[in-house]
Amino acid sequence: MIEVVDLYKSFNDHPVLKGINLRVDEGKTLALIGGSGKGKSVLLKIIIGLMRPDRGKVLIDNQDIGRLRGKALKRLKERCGIVFQGGALFDSLTVFENIAFPLEEKTRMKASQIRDTVMRELARVGLSGSETKYPAEISGGMKKRVALARCLVMNPEIVLFDEPTTGLDPLIGKAIHKLIRECQKSLNFTAIIVTHEIPAIFSMVDRVAMLFDGKILAEGTPGEIETTKDPVIHQFIHGELEGPITIQ
Ligand SMILES: Nc1ncnc2c1ncn2[C@@H]1O[C@H](COP(=O)(O)OP(=O)(O)OP(=O)(O)O)[C@@H](O)[C@H]1O
Ligand SMILES: [Mg+2]
Repeated sequence: MIEVVDLYKSFNDHPVLKGINLRVDEGKTLALIGGSGKGKSVLLKIIIGLMRPDRGKVLIDNQDIGRLRGKALKRLKERCGIVFQGGALFDSLTVFENIAFPLEEKTRMKASQIRDTVMRELARVGLSGSETKYPAEISGGMKKRVALARCLVMNPEIVLFDEPTTGLDPLIGKAIHKLIRECQKSLNFTAIIVTHEIPAIFSMVDRVAMLFDGKILAEGTPGEIETTKDPVIHQFIHGELEGPITIQ
């Protein structure tokens, strides 16, 4: 379970997160939606311990990650995975080496075990046969699949996805969503998906939360969010230019 309690974060006196409260139950998937530059990626980085909040806390299975140090923090981080907005693959490593990297760094697996595990993950994401290619030689959709495989190879209990389909054509985007859903069902991880794919994402997730003005403006089932009368949410999810949200 992920719990975010009264979280604040500013950069150079510019407040980005202004009291975030959020909870994702075990094995559930939450879509985090909200305008560009409003702090979605920052929130994911704080949840996974890559960035420290100014105030507030993040609890993973009731453990306050801000209070953990040393081995306990390392162990907790190993249970969590993140698929970054740009994929963040190592350009000088092949697809195989990218996926093998966390296994080599963080486990004591033998080379043969690593090979089997990487090949299994490649098959899961539909990339068998691409293992010797470099990131520059594969398409954007394939890069997202490699990033997903590199995350899943560690068998995480929590996975955070930062815009896993942005920049892909609608069909490939759908295929990635389907893949994430299938992986979630078979591996049963708890997930947060940051996305602008509205309303496509609504059929894939258990809950939706909307970030607005540094706070969670609304949280509920996809049905509740879709039918809300709140003018801000209504304008955002229907992509209307007229309404309470001003576009700079
Ligand atoms: N390391 C940093 N140093 C300074 N400012 C930062 C840093 N990281 C993020 N910010 C600022 O925090 C705000 C929120 O950024 P963030 O990347 O979380 O937005 P986002 O909601 O993920 O947007 P998008 O949908 O475009 O990805 C932005 O104003 C950004 O400039
Ligand atoms: Mg972002």
